[in-house]
Amino acid sequence: MALVEAGMTVGLGTGSTAAHAIRSLGRRVREGLAVRGVPTSEASAALALAEGIPLVDLNGVERVHLAIDGADEVDRQKRCIKGGGGALLREKIVASAADRLVIVVDSGKTVERLGAFPLPVEVVPFAREQVRRQLLALGASVEARAGKGGPFVTDEGNRILDCRFDGIVDAAALAARLDAIPGIVGHGLFIDMADDVIVGRGGSARFME
Ligand code: A5P
Repeated sequence: MALVEAGMTVGLGTGSTAAHAIRSLGRRVREGLAVRGVPTSEASAALALAEGIPLVDLNGVERVHLAIDGADEVDRQKRCIKGGGGALLREKIVASAADRLVIVVDSGKTVERLGAFPLPVEVVPFAREQVRRQLLALGASVEARAGKGGPFVTDEGNRILDCRFDGIVDAAALAARLDAIPGIVGHGLFIDMADDVIVGRGGSARFME
């Protein structure tokens, strides 16, 4: 991960792409690079520790210099759907704290219009059915995410409702609607958050214009 420089506090994303970045950063740390990581999930924390990357709690830092994460979809305006791995809430918090958010995807995740991938919406368990009705009223088909032997539970103890909108016409307006519904603590629309998107194709990678 050449973007990372000595002394940085780095947000560590979640998912297979972020795991690749964490392993790559771990190699540099073992070669002597002094950085610390802010993980966006328990899974990424465990991987980073196994890789030898020193971790720090978000509450213990004043600044996150850079966050690196994957995404499920990215459009030409660098707007993303995230949360396929269920870590969207912590991912968005760390991304919003970071001076720079770099999203890494393979070319199959770049889209003309967001919404083929179901939008994850994180809800507090108390409000699940109430929120579901409001999402249905917005035109979504809604599926409660299942985990192993029960509902999927996020690292923050919440549930995820995966919402199919059949193509999102106005992503910013939808994000604002979702932000206004009590009981929703996060959703996977990352609007005006990614500073850079790196798109992998075959063996090469390039920055999205
Ligand atoms: C995790 O909650 C997600 O936001 C991931 O960043 C996203 O799902 C991409 O994951 P992969 O890199 O595994 O495709």
